[in-house]
Amino acid sequence: MEITKIYKPDEVAQAAKEIQLGELIAFPTETVYGLGADATNEKAVRRVFQAKGRPANNPLNVTVCSPKMVERFVGEINEWGQKLIKQFWPGPLTLIFKTLPHALAPVVTGGLPTAAFRMPDNQVTLKMIELAGTPIVGPSANSSGKPSPTTADHVFHDMEGKIAGIVDDGPTAVGVESTIIDLSGDTPIITRPGAISIKAIEDVLGIKVLLKDDKDVAPAAQYKHYNPDAQVLMVNDQDWDQVDQWLKTQNQKVGVMATDKVLDSLSNTKLQFSLGQDVQSASKRFFAGIRHLDNDEHAKMILVQKFPEIGLGEAYMNRLEKASGNQTWSLE
Ligand code: TXA
Ligand code: MG
Repeated sequence: MEITKIYKPDEVAQAAKEIQLGELIAFPTETVYGLGADATNEKAVRRVFQAKGRPANNPLNVTVCSPKMVERFVGEINEWGQKLIKQFWPGPLTLIFKTLPHALAPVVTGGLPTAAFRMPDNQVTLKMIELAGTPIVGPSANSSGKPSPTTADHVFHDMEGKIAGIVDDGPTAVGVESTIIDLSGDTPIITRPGAISIKAIEDVLGIKVLLKDDKDVAPAAQYKHYNPDAQVLMVNDQDWDQVDQWLKTQNQKVGVMATDKVLDSLSNTKLQFSLGQDVQSASKRFFAGIRHLDNDEHAKMILVQKFPEIGLGEAYMNRLEKASGNQTWSLE
């Protein structure tokens, strides 16, 4: 066990030093916290898989502080990439490119001829990468299969004793992970919806893009995601009255995650977690709610409000579908 240190934003130079020494440092981004290590240090990268309990064939993204840093690994960035970078970086968009031969160790990419790159919109983290002078790998800083961390506390819960430190910059703003788009083939393919919507991307590229959930494509496909001990169920809007009646009959601990408006309409919830007003606040709070009801309250079941799959709703529903295994609440 090592001591996991908490760094304040103004202590980021110390965190950068640890990265240079091959240590693991969790870092803030606008989406979720990431688990960083020098992407050019194979030994350090191996330890990231260990700390997360992540299968070795599930590749890591490479987190950079400038588009220039990407060129070292891919050569000239293709036209789609340049357009998207200009519009959305730094920001919640991960781009997959073909890499130059031997540019990255196979341990980073899972042996793929491509790699995923991201420049997060967080000044402290951009500074850390700049000071370290090296790109860092940046998977979400949760134990593999568990909900992504949106606070330093979440990271500490999963990673205490396994990593050298956490840079704490408060709760993340977006709350769901970045949109991933694969630009390595003939057509751009979105493999994970995020805060940058499909429409926004199509507007910039001027062409239609494919949406292939990572269930079907990425190596990540075969693994469980956002999988708490509690059973998670989605609730259709028209069912809340029925849910309220049903809750009266339950002795098991059932947590409810919904907007204030829905929560106010229920009389029989004993355990609730507010998703705020709308899909923005719901996305920001989603992982925190699942973690709270699962880890702190030991709920047996968690019922969660659905949102229309438009804009940020694409990302929110993608995470909810995964966390629930696509199961919807019904009286049966
Ligand atoms: O918002 C985010 O993207 C966060 C923050 C910390 O930056 N990071 C994140 O990393 O969500 P992670 O590892 O949890 O998710 C990245 C996904 C994984 O599902 C991985 O399989 C996929 O990206 N990926 C990485 N490299 C890939 C590649 N070369 N081809 C296809 N998929 C890839
Ligand atoms: Mg993850």
